[in-house]
Amino acid sequence: MIAIVLGTRPEIIKMSPIIRLLRDNQEDYLLIHSGQHYSYDMDKIFFEELELPVPEFYLDVGSGNHGEQTARILTGIERVLMQERPDTVLVQGDTNTVFAGALAAVKLHIDVGHVEAGLRSHDRRMPEEINRVLTDHISEYLFAPTQESRNNAVLEGIPSDKIYVTGNTIVDAVQQNLRIAEDRRGFLDEYGLKTRGYFLVTAHRQENVDDKFRLRNLLKALEILRDEYSMPVVFPIHPRTRRRIEEYQLNVSPDITLIPPTGFLEFLVLEGNARLVLTDSGGVQEETCILRVPCVTLRENTERPETIEVGSNILTGITPGEIVQAVGTMLEEETNWTNPFGDGRAAQKIVDSIHTR
Ligand code: UD1
Ligand code: UDP
Repeated sequence: MIAIVLGTRPEIIKMSPIIRLLRDNQEDYLLIHSGQHYSYDMDKIFFEELELPVPEFYLDVGSGNHGEQTARILTGIERVLMQERPDTVLVQGDTNTVFAGALAAVKLHIDVGHVEAGLRSHDRRMPEEINRVLTDHISEYLFAPTQESRNNAVLEGIPSDKIYVTGNTIVDAVQQNLRIAEDRRGFLDEYGLKTRGYFLVTAHRQENVDDKFRLRNLLKALEILRDEYSMPVVFPIHPRTRRRIEEYQLNVSPDITLIPPTGFLEFLVLEGNARLVLTDSGGVQEETCILRVPCVTLRENTERPETIEVGSNILTGITPGEIVQAVGTMLEEETNWTNPFGDGRAAQKIVDSIHTR
């Protein structure tokens, strides 16, 4: 039996092609939800839109400091795994849920499969980098999206026969949902947005939004972009970021369209029709690359260097001047790059690798 552990928005989206495949093949599998994300628009909406089964186990861990949250997930998952005894535990990405799930499993001598293995920002101040490195080193299967991510793991001494280059399941998820998302195009009208006539923004990275100075700079840059290009700026706001804006009492110009986090289908519409996307999200860097929409990443480094190499994305510092300049640069680029994240059959390759080992 395969147990799938998930807990946050990107894990639900990127695990969805694997869950669908296991379900369609009528395989023996089990879903364990940590409850790291729990608000309707960060969690349940994705199960509904992607028509995913309700998890058999829901741990309800909620928010907290890193140690506290990771410990609660670890304890809860260990209990489920001792009871259910799956052969393999699959985790996806780099969140606290991923590392806790992998650690609980490996201590019980259950094989861990890490989906999206081998990514490295080489920035140990990021909690995600710690989670990725540790998870890779305790995994039995490393499902690397690209050759580059495979090389990262090999360079750290991980045996190459544990590593499978599969592509990223986000390509599967985009392909499976893009046509369905077309039916939600009316979503643009709700906010008066025209195709290629607006900037889309997301920001939630701890290093950016838990720093008052950086967050204020970002909001300032958005105001400048709004004025300079006379284009709406739409910002579906992550709960962490909303909380920080309130706590720091930052003023958001009424010209910036703050909206609640959207479902995946609506977000695909927003991304696919934007003139350019500004983000610090990992998944959004990949999706803009897949959808051929220019991206400016509000970070000094990225664990998705493939997007920089193909020319879909650039990194920028966080001063308003740097952000505005980066946007200017990307707006002049051609958008005919090739997607480096695979052919949309990552889920199949992952499941096949587990079965044929
Ligand atoms: C987490 C992941 C991050 C991932 C992101 C995806 C870690 C260390 N971080 O960051 O890698 O990119 O998810 O979105 O695992 N909150 C709510 N409702 C929710 C969830 C969170 O209101 O459903 C608020 C709470 O105030 C919470 C804060 O957001 O304290 C942060 O949530 P948390 O899960 O700790 O981190 P994320 O920033 O979501
Ligand atoms: N996303 C969404 N609604 C939003 C913002 C993002 O559905 O309002 C999706 C997006 O399409 C991508 C994923 O959430 O697939 C990215 O999640 P997030 O940025 O929270 O995390 P990260 O990828 O940085 O770990």
